[in-house]
Amino acid sequence: SIESALRRRGAASSNRRLFSSDSAPERKVAILGAAGGIGQPLALLMKLNPLVSNLALYDIAGTPGVAADVGHINTRAQVAGYVGEEQLGKALEGSDVVIIPAGVPRKPGMTRDDLFNINASIVKSLCTAIAKYCPSAVVNMISNPVNSTVPIASEVFKKAGTYDEKKLFGVTTLDVVRAKTFYAGKAKVPVADVNVPVVGGHAGITILPLFSQATPASNDLATEDIKALTKRTQDGGTEVVEAKAGKGSATLSMAYAGAIFADACLKGLNGVPDIVECSFVQSSITELPFFASKVRLGKNGVEEVFGLGSSLSDYEKEGLENLKPELKASIDKGIKFAKDN
Ligand code: NAD
Ligand code: LMR
Repeated sequence: SIESALRRRGAASSNRRLFSSDSAPERKVAILGAAGGIGQPLALLMKLNPLVSNLALYDIAGTPGVAADVGHINTRAQVAGYVGEEQLGKALEGSDVVIIPAGVPRKPGMTRDDLFNINASIVKSLCTAIAKYCPSAVVNMISNPVNSTVPIASEVFKKAGTYDEKKLFGVTTLDVVRAKTFYAGKAKVPVADVNVPVVGGHAGITILPLFSQATPASNDLATEDIKALTKRTQDGGTEVVEAKAGKGSATLSMAYAGAIFADACLKGLNGVPDIVECSFVQSSITELPFFASKVRLGKNGVEEVFGLGSSLSDYEKEGLENLKPELKASIDKGIKFAKDN
C-alpha cells in the first residue's frame, strides 16, 4: 500500500539521517606510529572518513608535520599531532578507536617473528598507556608479529584490570584484501564482488584463506590453482618485502586494509547492523585462545565470533591442523613475554 511504502521511505530516510556524516556521533581515532610508512597513508585515509570527528596522530618523531599536512584537508575530522611519550596521554584521552602500526618492519630474509624483540616492548608500553588513558577504546593491532602482539596486549590489559576481549583486534584485513585480489584475477570474476574469509593468524602458514567459501564461486579452479592462490596469499607480505628490497614491507595496501577495518569498527560502534570482517581475536572456535575468523562488529566491539563454516575442503582441513602448532607457539611467546616483563 501507499501507506506502507511511505513508512518504508520514512524509515530509510531516518536511517540515512542517523548514519550520515553531519549527524554521525563524535568519534576520536588515535594512530600510534602515525609518522611511519603505514601511519602516514592511514592518517590520510582516516581524515577522509566522515565517521571520524577527531584524529590524533602520535609518534616518537615527525607527527607535527604529518598533522599539519593532513589537517589542511577540508573534511570533518579535527587533526592534532602528538610527539614523544609525554604527549601520549593527550593523544589517547577520549579515543574510541586506537590503531597501532608502531614498530619496525621486516627486511628481506626476516620472518615476522624476527621483529618480536623490538616490537613486543613497543606494543607493551603503548598498551600500558591505553589502559591508563582510554581503557574502553577499541584497539586495532597492526604491529607485527600480530600472532604475538595481540596476546601481549591482552596480558597488559589484564594486569591493568581493563581487559575487554570484545575490544581487542589483530588486523588481518590485508590477508583478506590480498586473497580477494588474487582470487578475482585467477577466477576471472569482478574483484569488487569477491568475498573470501581468511582465518587462523597473520604469518606464513598460519594465514589460511578459505577459497572453498569464496564468492562468487568458481568451478574453473583446479586444486593446483587453489594451492597456488593459498601460497600466494600466505606469502603476500614476503612478496612485498622482497620487491621493496630492504625499504620495508607493505605500507599502502596495509593503510587501505587498516582503514577498511577501522571503518568497520566505527560503523559497529555507531550501531550500523551486519558489519562483518575477519580479525584475530580472543576465540573459542578452536582450542587456541586467539584465532582469526569472521566476526560481527557492534556497539561493544565483537558481538559474535563466527565459526569456520561447515564446508572446509580436505586441503583447508589439513592447513588448519598444520597451522595450529605454530600459531600456539606465537601466542604462548607473547603471553610469556608480557608475564615476565
Ligand atoms: P615504519 O618503520 O615505516 O613506521 C613505524 C613507525 O612507528 C615509525 O614512524 C616509528 O617512529 C614509530 N614508532 C616506533 N616506536 C614507537 C613508539 N614507541 N611509539 C610510537 N611510535 C613508534 O614501519 P611500517 O612499515 O609502518 O610498519 C609498522 C609495523 O606494521 C611493522 O611492525 C610491520 O611489520 C607491521 N605491518 C603489519 C601488517 C599487518 O597486516 N598487520 C602489514 C604491514 C606491516
Ligand atoms: C604483511 O603481511 O604485509 C605484513 O605483515 C608485513 C610483513 O612483514 O609481511
